[in-house]
Amino acid sequence: MTMKSTHDSPILVTGAAGDLGAIGRNLTAMLLDKGHKVRALVRREDERALALRQLGAEVVQGDLTDLTSMHRAIEGVARIYFGMSVSAAYLEATVNVAAVARHHGVEAFVNISQMTVTQMSITETTDSPQHKLHWLAEQALAWSGLPVVTVRPTVFLEGFFLRLAAVGIRDSNELALPLGNSKTSPISAVDVARAVSEILHDPAPHIGHVYNLTGFESADLDHYARVFSEALGRTIRYRNVPLSGWIDTLREFGVPTHVLNHLAVMAELHAQGRYDRMTDDLFKLIGKMPTSMYDFVKLHAAEFTPTEATV
Ligand SMILES: NC(=O)c1ccc[n+]([C@@H]2O[C@H](COP(=O)([O-])OP(=O)(O)OC[C@H]3O[C@@H](n4cnc5c(N)ncnc54)[C@H](OP(=O)(O)O)[C@@H]3O)[C@@H](O)[C@H]2O)c1
Repeated sequence: MTMKSTHDSPILVTGAAGDLGAIGRNLTAMLLDKGHKVRALVRREDERALALRQLGAEVVQGDLTDLTSMHRAIEGVARIYFGMSVSAAYLEATVNVAAVARHHGVEAFVNISQMTVTQMSITETTDSPQHKLHWLAEQALAWSGLPVVTVRPTVFLEGFFLRLAAVGIRDSNELALPLGNSKTSPISAVDVARAVSEILHDPAPHIGHVYNLTGFESADLDHYARVFSEALGRTIRYRNVPLSGWIDTLREFGVPTHVLNHLAVMAELHAQGRYDRMTDDLFKLIGKMPTSMYDFVKLHAAEFTPTEATV
């Protein structure tokens, strides 16, 4: 394995089209802002790929599980951000990208994982298929000898607290989630992208490190409902909804079984208090406090507010 250390070569950002947390899309913009060249990997040519080109990225289309497209994506790059949507192909994609990265030689491989992996070991797992794939992917990357940096964020604000909550807040003034009454410390995926952009800007001091990224505070769901109320100027109440019915509704919307099984375990772990975690790793990386729930709700207020047509 040869090591590249040229700072003129592009940084590969996978999952760059962005779907849920959109770390790849935000990261692409942040790295371009810092003056880096970015090669953005997208699964398909669409308006999102066009938008990345308009930002100034070199866009490469390919599948992370495909060997030929990964040679095309990795040849000539020195630093890689590896991330993709939660899916059953996660381990195959990680090992495929790692194998090609080893072949071409890179100076940094930033892998996004999940905070729960911190509590997993050869004898400790969870029932989430995605947690297991992330744990195995971290193992394989450790064996690979690649210069890996691991980023393990807690739950994203953009998932449970936006995409999965917006309709209930907008239409019923309810934060309706199956998360129990324990504390949780959600983080904005934009903050995660900021942390990754700092690492990729100057990776050498970070190689071999694991960063556990948490949010602004750890609090229970009633507290967050009060924050929603304050930010939106109307009363929002938390309703701890039964998990099985919530999962059935998502299934009706076509959410894949792998993702449903992962979300169900996340909800159960929330109820057990397993997301009640606080670290200062994000502050150490970006020199700023994480985005608060209040600021996040203000930023997305339109998505939580009924329009004239719906009232
Ligand atoms: N959500 C959370 O609460 C949370 C918490 C901690 C960690 N994480 C981790 O964060 C990561 C996800 O980050 P994110 O939310 O920024 O991702 P995202 O917004 O869902 O974007 C992922 C991108 O990956 C692309 N992709 C999926 N499969 C692909 C394949 N086989 N080949 C090429 N591209 C593929 C998707 O393309 P298309 O859009 O074209 O489908 C999508 O644009 C995962 O590792 C997840 O475990 C998530």
